[in-house]
Amino acid sequence: MLFFAIIASASLALLPVQAAKEVFAHMIVGNLPEFELADWEDDIRLAQAAKIDAFVLNIASQDPINGRSLDLAFQAANNLGFKMFFSFDYLAQGPWPKDQVISLLNKFGNNPAYFKHDGVRPFVSTFEGLGSAADWPDIKAATNAFFIPDWSSVSAQEAVRLAGGVADGLFSFNAWPNGDTNMTTDPDRAFLEALRPEDKPYMMPVSPWFFTNLPGFDKNWLWRGDGLWDLRWRQVADAQPDFVQILTWNDYGESHYVGPVREKELGLFAAAHAPINYVRGITHDGWRTFLPFYIEQYKADGRVPRIQAEAAAAYYRPAPALACPSGGTTGNTAAFGQTEVPPEQLVEDSVFYAALLNTDAGVTVTVSIGGRQQTGHFSQVPTAGAGTPGVYQGSVPFGTSRGDVVVTISRDGQTIATVEGGKGISTECENNTQNWNAVAV
Ligand SMILES: *[C@@H]1O[C@H](CO)[C@@H](O)[C@H](O)[C@H]1NC(C)=O
Ligand SMILES: *[C@@H]1O[C@H](CO)[C@@H](O)[C@H](O)[C@H]1NC(C)=O
Repeated sequence: MLFFAIIASASLALLPVQAAKEVFAHMIVGNLPEFELADWEDDIRLAQAAKIDAFVLNIASQDPINGRSLDLAFQAANNLGFKMFFSFDYLAQGPWPKDQVISLLNKFGNNPAYFKHDGVRPFVSTFEGLGSAADWPDIKAATNAFFIPDWSSVSAQEAVRLAGGVADGLFSFNAWPNGDTNMTTDPDRAFLEALRPEDKPYMMPVSPWFFTNLPGFDKNWLWRGDGLWDLRWRQVADAQPDFVQILTWNDYGESHYVGPVREKELGLFAAAHAPINYVRGITHDGWRTFLPFYIEQYKADGRVPRIQAEAAAAYYRPAPALACPSGGTTGNTAAFGQTEVPPEQLVEDSVFYAALLNTDAGVTVTVSIGGRQQTGHFSQVPTAGAGTPGVYQGSVPFGTSRGDVVVTISRDGQTIATVEGGKGISTECENNTQNWNAVAV
C-alpha cells in the first residue's frame, strides 16, 4: 500500500501542471492620472462582479504616472482580494529599459495582489517589444517571471522562436475583423498550433468594438464591431484557450472599454486634438451584463452553466452613419496593410439586442426608439438551438426613428428585463463630426 502510494505520487509529479483558466482585462494605467484609491476600488468591485480574475496593467516606459498609480492600484487590490499583473507597453513611449523592467517586477512581483502563474511565478505580458525580446532571458532569470508577450505583429511561428524561445506562452492583439466580415478564430488557431508542440499556453483576445479618431496620434479608423462581442465569447467557449484577455477595461481612445467612463480621465481627447470627445456620455456598461455567464461557460469547458437570472443588453451607435460627416475616419487602416473602405460600409444603422434566457419559448422583444415601437426577433440562438439556455440576439434598423432607446424582453406578457438609458439616437452632430463609438446598455 505504501509502495503503491509512493508510485502514485511520483507519477503525479511528472504530469504537467494544468493551470486554471483565467480571464483578465487590459487596463491602461496612463489613462488614469486622476485615479484615487476609491476609484481603483470601484473599478475592482465592478470587475469582480463581472467575474474577471485580474487587471492587466498596461504601463508605458518613463511614464511619471506609474509611481503613484501602481502603489494605489496594488493597495486597492490588496484591500479587495483582487489580482493584477503588468503588461509592459513598448510602443506608447518607446522601449522599456531592461533594468527598469527588472526593478518594477522585483518591487511588485512578490506583492500578494500580483497575479502569479501556478501561484508562484509573477505573470508578465507586453504590448509588442519585438526589438527588446533579447532582454527577456535576463529579466526572467532575475525575476522568475512567467512571460506571455504580445508579439502579434509577427507570425505565431516567429514569435514562438524569438530570443531562443524565451516566451512561456503568447498573447495576440488580433481581436477585430478585417473589413465587412465576422471575426474568425483563424488567427487564434495559428497561435494554438504554433504553441502546441512546446506545450505552451495561449492568451486569446476578446473585444467589443474599435473606433479611434486621435489626430495627435495619427489614428483615425474603425473596425467592424457589430455582433462581435457575443461572437468572440462563443469562439472562446469553443477554442478553450488557456487564458482570455478582454481588450480593454478603459482604453477610451480606441472605444473598446468595458469598464465605466470616468469623466475626469478623458483628457486624452484634448491632448490628441480629437475633433469630438467620442466617449463622454457613451456608456459601455451593457457589455459587462453577460460576462459572468460567458466566463463561467469558458471555464466549464464550453458547457452552458445554470443561468442565475435572465437578463438583457443592447448596443447601437448614437447617429445614423450618414447623418454627419465622417470626420475623416476610414473603415480599416492602411497602417495595418489593409484596404480602406468608407466607414459606413462596416457598420449597420441598427439597435443590436441580446437576451440571456433559459428558453426563448413565449418570448417577445420590443425595441422602442423615441417611443416608436418595433418587434424584434432572434436571428441568433444558442449553439444547442432555440428553446435551450444561453444568449439570444438580433437587431432592428433605426429607420427614421430618433430618440431614446428602450429594449424590453418579455415572456407571456411578463417583463423579464428592460434596458434603456445612455444617449439616444440623433442626427445632431457635435462639431460636425460623426461619432462612431457605440452606446452599450
Ligand atoms: C456574421 O455572422 C452572423 C451570424 O452567423 C451572420 O448572421 C452575419 O450575416 C455575418 N455577417 C457577415 C458580415 O459575415
Ligand atoms: C472641431 O473639428 C475641427 C476639425 O476636425 C478641429 O480643428 C476643432 O478643434 C474641433 N473643435 C472642437 C471644439 O473640438
